[in-house]
Amino acid sequence: MSNQPNSTMVELIKVSKHYHPNIQALTDVSISIRSGEMVFITGRSGAGKTTFLKLLCKMELPTRGMVEIDGIDIRRLRGKGLAILRQNIGVAYQDFKLLTDRTVAENIAVSMEVSYRKPNQIRKRVKTLLEELDLTDKHNSMTGDLSRGEQQRVALARAVANSPSLILVDEPTGNLDSATTERVMTMIKNLHQAGATVLIATHDHTIYRNTDDRLLELRGGQMYQLRDGVMQ
Ligand SMILES: Nc1ncnc2c1ncn2[C@@H]1O[C@H](COP(=O)(O)OP(=O)(O)OP(=O)(O)O)[C@@H](O)[C@H]1O
Ligand SMILES: [Mg+2]
Repeated sequence: MSNQPNSTMVELIKVSKHYHPNIQALTDVSISIRSGEMVFITGRSGAGKTTFLKLLCKMELPTRGMVEIDGIDIRRLRGKGLAILRQNIGVAYQDFKLLTDRTVAENIAVSMEVSYRKPNQIRKRVKTLLEELDLTDKHNSMTGDLSRGEQQRVALARAVANSPSLILVDEPTGNLDSATTERVMTMIKNLHQAGATVLIATHDHTIYRNTDDRLLELRGGQMYQLRDGVMQ
């Protein structure tokens, strides 16, 4: 992805998402997010935050409307094109989606292996990420044996391991105490400062209250902007 400052990284035009049998999760959502922005997306449970993030990595398809990532209409992407898109998007899912019978280190390494990174480089990156997230002693633990808060941090480490240009994080602090929340947010802010575009879906107002990042809210299937962001 180009990742040029001020180019458009995410563009949704009149996107609606309907789930069977009769749930209208999103209605005519249009939003433009520039490369290098950090954006919080808030809204009540069921407001469509996860749906919105899933549309961006083609985990879900819109019922109507267009989703463009870095200028590409992702509806057309298949096979190799879709694989390349996904290599450039790091997603930390709300339900983690970890391989529970693999170790923490193996889970984090997955995204780097598919991008053919060297084993030595992978080892170093995994070590650094685990240090940053206070998980060093869990390196060889099976992720299925971890607490939810630990699993949540492994999911984040896996999402960012490959230094993606676009990072989507779904409720990154739901299971964490305040000190660990701060650690996680510091990591996310550092990635943003290094140039990544970051979208965070959250209920936790403490993580955006004292920032000047852009704040969006999903309500009744529509997207509202509560606060304009200050681009650095
Ligand atoms: N696969 C699905 N099939 C049917 N309905 C779904 C599906 N996924 C989500 N929904 C519904 O779509 C609506 C939006 O769900 P979504 O998970 O996007 O909300 P959310 O804002 O992420 O909620 P939360 O804060 O609880 O995570 C909800 O009414 C939900 O029940
Ligand atoms: Mg959700």
